[in-house]
Amino acid sequence: MLIETTVNGVPRTLEVAPSDLLLDVLRDRLGLTGAKRSCDVQVCGTCTVLLDGVPVSACTTLAHEARGRRVMTIEGLAETPGFARLEEVFEHHNALQCGYCTSGMALTITSLLEAGELADDEDVVREALSGNVCRCTGYRAIIDAARELAR
Ligand code: FES
Ligand code: FES
Repeated sequence: MLIETTVNGVPRTLEVAPSDLLLDVLRDRLGLTGAKRSCDVQVCGTCTVLLDGVPVSACTTLAHEARGRRVMTIEGLAETPGFARLEEVFEHHNALQCGYCTSGMALTITSLLEAGELADDEDVVREALSGNVCRCTGYRAIIDAARELAR
C-alpha cells in the first residue's frame, strides 16, 4: 500500500506492506537509525519515536499507522531549537553512557515537556519515564536532567 506521511518535517510517500513495522521502515529504508531495536515487544523504549507528538514504540507500530501523521525521530528532534538545551543538560548531568537508550529518553522527555506533563518532582519523573529502560546510568543522572529541564 502507498502511504503519505511526514517524517521529521519532510513529506514522504512510501510503499509499505501491511505488516511492515515503523521501526524497520525508518531504519532500513529511510536510514534513520537513531531509533534502536532492543526488546522488540514494547517494553524498553529504545525504539521510541513521536507520532503526532506522542511517544510510541516503533517496534510494535505498523508503518501504515503513520499514514497522514507526523513522525519525529531523534534525527528530527536534533534539528529543533530546543534540542541544544536538552543536549546541554544531559551533558551537564552525565545522563548517558552507552547512549543506546538516549534517543528514546530525549524524545519522551521532549514530548512530556511540550505536554506540560513533566515536573521538578522525583516521583513524577520516575513515573513519566517508566517506559524507557536504561541499563547503564542507574537513572539518577537522567532523573536529575529531566527535573532540570522541567524547571
Ligand atoms: S525495542 Fe521497542 S520497546 Fe523495546
Ligand atoms: S546509557 Fe546505556 S542504556 Fe542508557
